[in-house]
Amino acid sequence: MTTQSSDPILQLKVVETEALICTKCDLAEGRTQVVFGAGNPQADVLFVGEAPGQREDEQGVPFVGPSGRLLEELLAEIDLTRDAVYITNVVKCRPPGNRDPRPHEIDACKAYLRTQLELIDPAVVVTLGNFSTKLVLRTEVGITKLRGMAYEWWGRYLVPTFHPAAALRGRGQVLEDMRYDFSLVRDVLDGNLATDTGIEEETPPPQPADDPQQLGLFGQ
Ligand code: URA
Ligand code: SF4
Repeated sequence: MTTQSSDPILQLKVVETEALICTKCDLAEGRTQVVFGAGNPQADVLFVGEAPGQREDEQGVPFVGPSGRLLEELLAEIDLTRDAVYITNVVKCRPPGNRDPRPHEIDACKAYLRTQLELIDPAVVVTLGNFSTKLVLRTEVGITKLRGMAYEWWGRYLVPTFHPAAALRGRGQVLEDMRYDFSLVRDVLDGNLATDTGIEEETPPPQPADDPQQLGLFGQ
């Protein structure tokens, strides 16, 4: 990837411009447009969803459908807006018929997410649902087991939570759990994590990789 400038905001723009014409995987064929990401390039919080849906594919913006509205509500409850944070997905192009992204597509696309993470350099990464959590934590452990904690992760925090679509489909408990997870994000931002939750005492991620090369997200 071409990243000649030392200004991370400009570098992110350059990478986005490259991504918008990407044909590295077969998702390029069915998409209307690439949905690279949106929000503050210097955000403290980076949200990672799964893949663009129909509305996102049409508008080129992540989380603009019903899931996005719920995400905005949850953000408002912790005094954030979508413009204050940065929102992206594991794959940047819509899978046909909203099918799950396939492993080779995730592999082809993950360098963009890694670059976004490096350039935005957020204090907290929030993974929404199983796909992004599995990619980022490199684990097969499901989201139901993993959520409810802030993990220390490569000099920042990782807060895995459900995908908003699960809260829209599911019982009110999913939404309540998401509210709790979002409150952890607020705690990290306010520097209240240890006193409020004692989370520093908790167990580390299931498969902490000592070597960045072992992380799915970093391995290429
Ligand atoms: N679901 C996602 O995972 N991402 C979007 O951008 C929209 C819906
Ligand atoms: Fe490129 Fe990612 Fe789109 Fe595949 S999903 S074409 S790797 S931007």
